[in-house]
Amino acid sequence: MIEQVSAKVMLGGEAAAFSRGGNRLCFVDPRDSGRCIKVLRPDRSPAIKRGESGFPKNLKPLSSFDDNREEAGVYAAIQRSVGEAAFSMIPRLHGWVETEFGAGLCQDLVRDDDGLIAVTLKQYLWQRGRDAALERVLAEFGAAWSAAGMPSRKLLSHNLVVQCAGGNPLRLWVIDGLGWPDLLPLASYCRGLARRKARRRITALEDTIREQLDKRDTPEDFGYHGWLEEEQRAR
Ligand SMILES: Nc1ncnc2c1ncn2[C@@H]1O[C@H](COP(=O)(O)OP(=O)(O)OP(=O)(O)O)[C@@H](O)[C@H]1O
Ligand SMILES: [Mg+2]
Repeated sequence: MIEQVSAKVMLGGEAAAFSRGGNRLCFVDPRDSGRCIKVLRPDRSPAIKRGESGFPKNLKPLSSFDDNREEAGVYAAIQRSVGEAAFSMIPRLHGWVETEFGAGLCQDLVRDDDGLIAVTLKQYLWQRGRDAALERVLAEFGAAWSAAGMPSRKLLSHNLVVQCAGGNPLRLWVIDGLGWPDLLPLASYCRGLARRKARRRITALEDTIREQLDKRDTPEDFGYHGWLEEEQRAR
């Protein structure tokens, strides 16, 4: 049997990324503008990250410092535990692709109905505040997230994006920060516990939103995470 080797996808260098998180670079997939490809930042390689970590975390295998591998593993667990209902809250993954930055993870890219890449919840709050339209999607998202018992770390406002249609919020998507962080994730084996923990994440998100809104008077407090300029959104 001939093994099928898919061609390497060239992403155009770091400057072509539409976004840069603390760990990964995100590119529009040159093969499909409805998808993105996430790669590890070359300056945040698993070896560098492990080198910076303290005991006992530095004993963990290199793969556990690879956000893409971790995310792919969590998606597989979500598929098993939550199933299809999850994919109205997290964009689907489309597997691995080889790139000039090494292994890239391909994911649905959340765009507004005008084609622009959706902004983060953090940016939305900063620009528009907690308006009535956002209130409705927040309530829907919170109920669905809790009911499904979705596994996540603390939900951070730069790891959620607000998809808009006709200029108003339609749906919230979680694009990062999935998986239970606990050493022994009991919630993976107990749906009731998963739902309670997911509900607590939603309550904590409410606090995060309030803190975010309080900071709006001091623009320098936005931080470097989670802002997309119009030019980046149009990629
Ligand atoms: N599927 C997506 N659809 C739309 N925007 C996305 C998507 N994935 C990522 N983004 C944008 O890219 C930014 C960085 O992505 P991501 O959070 O995956 O990177 P990261 O380096 O893992 O983040 P962190 O700094 O939280 O570790 C997000 O804040 C968001 O603006
Ligand atoms: Mg992130």
